[in-house]
Formats: sequence, structure tokens, C-alpha cells
Amino acid sequence: MFYCTECGNELPKWAGQCPACKAWNTIVERPAEGKRRTAAPASSGQGPARPKPMAEVETSRELRFATGMKELDRVLGGGAVQGSLVLVGGAPGIGKSTLMLQICDNLCRFAKVLYVSGEESERQIKLRAERLRVRGEGLYLLAETDLESVVEAVNELQPDVLIVDSIQTMYNGDLSTAPGSIGQVKDCTMALMQLAKGQGVTVFVIGHVNKEGSIAGPKVLEHMVDCVLYFEGEQQNSYRILRAAKNRFGATNEIGVFEMGDGGLSEVPNPSEMLLSGRPQDTPGTCVTCVMEGVRPVLAEVQALLAPTSFNVPRRTANGFDFNRTNLLLAVLEKRGGLMVSTCDAYINVIGGLFLDEPAADLAMVVAMASSFRDRPVPGDLAAVGEVGLTGELRSVNALGQRLSEVHRLGFTKCLVPARAGAKVEAPDGLQLIKVHNIREALAVLM
Ligand code: TYD
Ligand code: MG
Repeated sequence: MFYCTECGNELPKWAGQCPACKAWNTIVERPAEGKRRTAAPASSGQGPARPKPMAEVETSRELRFATGMKELDRVLGGGAVQGSLVLVGGAPGIGKSTLMLQICDNLCRFAKVLYVSGEESERQIKLRAERLRVRGEGLYLLAETDLESVVEAVNELQPDVLIVDSIQTMYNGDLSTAPGSIGQVKDCTMALMQLAKGQGVTVFVIGHVNKEGSIAGPKVLEHMVDCVLYFEGEQQNSYRILRAAKNRFGATNEIGVFEMGDGGLSEVPNPSEMLLSGRPQDTPGTCVTCVMEGVRPVLAEVQALLAPTSFNVPRRTANGFDFNRTNLLLAVLEKRGGLMVSTCDAYINVIGGLFLDEPAADLAMVVAMASSFRDRPVPGDLAAVGEVGLTGELRSVNALGQRLSEVHRLGFTKCLVPARAGAKVEAPDGLQLIKVHNIREALAVLM
């Protein structure tokens, strides 16, 4: 049997190009059965697993321990679960290694930690640890890329926590493909999963994501591991956001916020500061909304600048927002909101490099436009969520409860919501819902 190392497609004979994913030179023969590691069944019993009545399945509460970083614990759902495998993904240079090394400082106090790095030498790691003021007792370092040796080291040392930096550098010599290819990454993750489930080692695996959303990166591993965290941020600012994309032991809508400084990462206990940092106060033309990025709520600031045009046809630009939707919302604002915006140039910008392709951002956009047009600021503690229809009516959005908790968590006290949806959800304590039926009402409330 032959298979493609890029997509896993199986073929009866060798070919130069994979017929499924069209990659060249990726077809390899499957290694002899005896050499292959097979996945351990989730139950550790010998022989083939048999169905058993659920009532007879033994359970014990999962054991959790604090990593020493409250923001990380929060994202993990209240600490790391013993014997789980956590994948920490993020763009190169975002601070994944730094975060992992910093949690060692706390973990070392009560656990034996093995830090395996395929990217840096032991000396480099030690230098970095010293700079980060990580105390090293109980921390073992291993610069290794061969998975076989890593597994051996784990069997010998019996650590409680294993950190692997990064999965792309690990390889299994039995497979004839290069480190970082899908086959290698999957195989290595499977082996680490076996360590986690079989021996109760808590494993943190670092995985690089590239800008396109990763080839051979965390995306292909998401279904295998217990927990997937993404570390995000922009190179030009020092804030970093940690989000859970998947968590078998907790919710995925928590975020952790960090700031990268000279001494490594520090926690940002009140993330609204981060969003509000640089956000103009009492200035017309800006409004905050909450959009869902996959399963995760994200706050975004939208800005609009409307100024009388000096052209025959007004200029319109949209950055981070759909251009046609911008024109549509301006038309709705004119016909249904009663603001004569057709004689204005309109410049739209979404802060933070986000692209808002969700209708839930409509209301905030309309509010920002109207605010700029009227030259009246929107209250700084107000967010707006809702889709705007062609008649100016506000339509409900999905996951409103989740959005509201995110809005509340980041320090806002008022939220503009569609009346229909607002009647159905319960607002978190301390968040006042302003329920409106259409944009006219919304503008009347605000201005
Ligand atoms: P790193 O953890 O090596 O990134 P990753 O493992 O995700 O590739 O972090 C690298 C960046 O972090 C680097 O550009 C410098 C910055 N940094 C600081 O600003 N302060 C620090 O104390 C450390 C350790 C790193
Ligand atoms: Mg690194």
C-alpha cells in the first residue's frame, strides 16, 4: 500500500503525483505493519475494546493543576488537566516558547517538567530562562528532534509535565518524510497523545501557524488533541491574546490577555484596557461591536469618517469591512435613518487588522457613521450588536448570549441590541441592554 504524506490519500501503486491533492513526490510506501505505532485505545485495557454499559464505566474527577498564569488557566477552563494534551498554536515569534518557559517557573515547584526543544539548544533555553527569571529546580531540558529519543527520555525521567517545542521539528525516523509534513506531524502527535493518556503526563505541544491558516500545522491536529489554544497578536503592538479553539474540559469562549515586555509575558488582568488603549474617548465616529470568529466572540472597534465631498461622486473606502456592505449601510442610513450622507465621502476602518464579514457588525458601523456625520460621540462604555436590514429594521444575531458576556467581560456597561433578540437573552449583571427595533430608534437613543 502507498499513501500520500500530504493528504493521507491511499493508493495501490506508486505515482509521481497524488491524484487527490495534486502534490508531487509525496507518495510513499506504507512502512511494514510491525514497525508502526498504533493508537492506544482510550481505555487502557489489553485486547480489543468491548462496548460496556455506561453505568459501569469508572470515573474520577479530572485532576487539575494551576499553571501559575491565571490567564492561561482561565482559557484552559480552570487549570491544566492531568494527562491531557494541549496544543498551543500561533505565528512564529508571537511568544509561544516564552509562555511555555514562563509557566515552568510555577510548575517546577510541585512537578517534574521536561522541556524538549527542537528549535533551540539547551544553552539558549537556559539563557532565556535566566532572562525570564525562571527558577530551574525540577526543570529538565532536552534539545532533540527525534521522537523516539523523546519517548525514551520520558520513560526514563517520568516527568509530570512534558513541553514539546515545536511539533513541526519533531520527526519519526520510521517515516520517510521530512519533519513538518502532515504525516510526520500527525504521527508525532499521536505518539505524544499515547504518552499523555497512557502515563498520565500532561503534554503541551507548540505548533506554528502560518498566515494562511497553516499547512501541516495545528489545523490538521485539532481533532486529535484535547485542547487547542491559539496565541494571537500583532508584531507592532505588545498585546497578545490567547484563545481556546477547542477544549474537551471547558468552554471555548474565554480569552487570556498578555503583554510582551522586557521580562517576558505579563498578564493583563483587565483586557478592556488593551482594547481601549489608543481608543479615542469622546470622539465622534467610533463604536465597538462583538463578532464571532468561528466559535469565539471577539470585540472590534469600527471607525467611520464622513466628510462633505468635493467630488461629483463621493469617495468611499472600506478597510476591514465589505465595500458593498458599506455602500448599502450608507444608503439605509440615508433613506431610513434620515441622515443626508449621500453628499459625504465615507472612510471606514476596522481597528486591529480584523475583517468583519459578519452582519452582526452592521449596527456598530451604522452608529459610527451616524456619529461621525452628526459629529456627536458615542458613549465610551457602549457596544452595539445587530444586523441591519434594508428597511432599517434590526435583526437578531446568533450567539447573542456569548457576545454579551464577552462585551461585559471586557468592561462595557451598555449594549445596543435588536429588541426581538434582546427579549430572549438575559444580560449579565452590570450590563444594561438597550433594545431597539430599527436604526431610527437607535440613533434617537444615542443622539
Ligand atoms: P518566542 O517565544 O521565541 O516566540 P515563538 O516561540 O512563538 O516563536 O518569542 C519571540 C519574541 O518575543 C521575540 O520577537 C522577542 C520577544 N520577546 C520579548 O519581547 N521579551 C522577552 O522577554 C522575550 C523572551 C521575548
Ligand atoms: Mg519558539
